[in-house]
Amino acid sequence: MISSSGIPAVVPPGRLAESDQPVLPLDGGLELRPWQLTDADADALLAAGQDPDISRWNLFSLADRAEARARIERIHARRRAETGAIWAIAPHGGAAVGLAGLNDVDLAAGTAEILYWVLPPARGTGLAVQAARRLSRWALDDLGLHRLILCHSVANPASCRVAEKAGFSYEGTQRSAPLHADGWHDQHLHARVATDPD
Ligand SMILES: CC(C)(COP(=O)(O)OP(=O)(O)OC[C@H]1O[C@@H](n2cnc3c(N)ncnc32)[C@H](O)[C@@H]1OP(=O)(O)O)[C@@H](O)C(=O)NCCC(=O)NCCS
Repeated sequence: MISSSGIPAVVPPGRLAESDQPVLPLDGGLELRPWQLTDADADALLAAGQDPDISRWNLFSLADRAEARARIERIHARRRAETGAIWAIAPHGGAAVGLAGLNDVDLAAGTAEILYWVLPPARGTGLAVQAARRLSRWALDDLGLHRLILCHSVANPASCRVAEKAGFSYEGTQRSAPLHADGWHDQHLHARVATDPD
């Protein structure tokens, strides 16, 4: 497949949408698995949408279970459109305790942005780092992307620590991007490319 730039697509169209979303095992009986349209997953997403830190840093809020279910449906629609690939972080057979995924997927360019959050009871045990590392390996080695970016406000040191520990090198500070509830924040740009050492 040749893109409009005349450069061959890094990943051919269809590779994301036409394959099943895999379950990616993590340590400690946890895994990355697709979000399910169940009350348990909707309630986990609702809890995230009502958590002040997740709302603040991941820039979303949810009012009720119906909104959470609609968001899960959008997650699956974005995968079918090959613009996103989002997993729940969950114990095997259990309800979601976090999220890790790829936004702004551009298969032709071989790029995506990684995002994550963890519900308060599951924080502080290395879950975000583990999920980001596992998802990056899948995105670079299995899907075939070349470059993943990770952005966080300069006022969010926990996310900076996750980025560094997950192998995303600091590349610079973007000014006044993006707009948060309390105004414009500068943000760190981190990235990991396929040729980086593990
Ligand atoms: C940021 C977040 C994902 C981290 O999840 P987590 O599973 O608790 O993270 P981990 O346990 O994998 O590791 C976090 C690291 O950050 C460190 N950390 C946590 N809070 C910190 C803080 N306020 N300042 C500096 N470092 C901090 C931890 O000590 C740990 O590093 P260490 O292992 O060297 O001690 C979670 O706190 C969260 O969901 N926050 C709200 C939403 C958010 O910030 N999302 C990211 C948007 S860019």
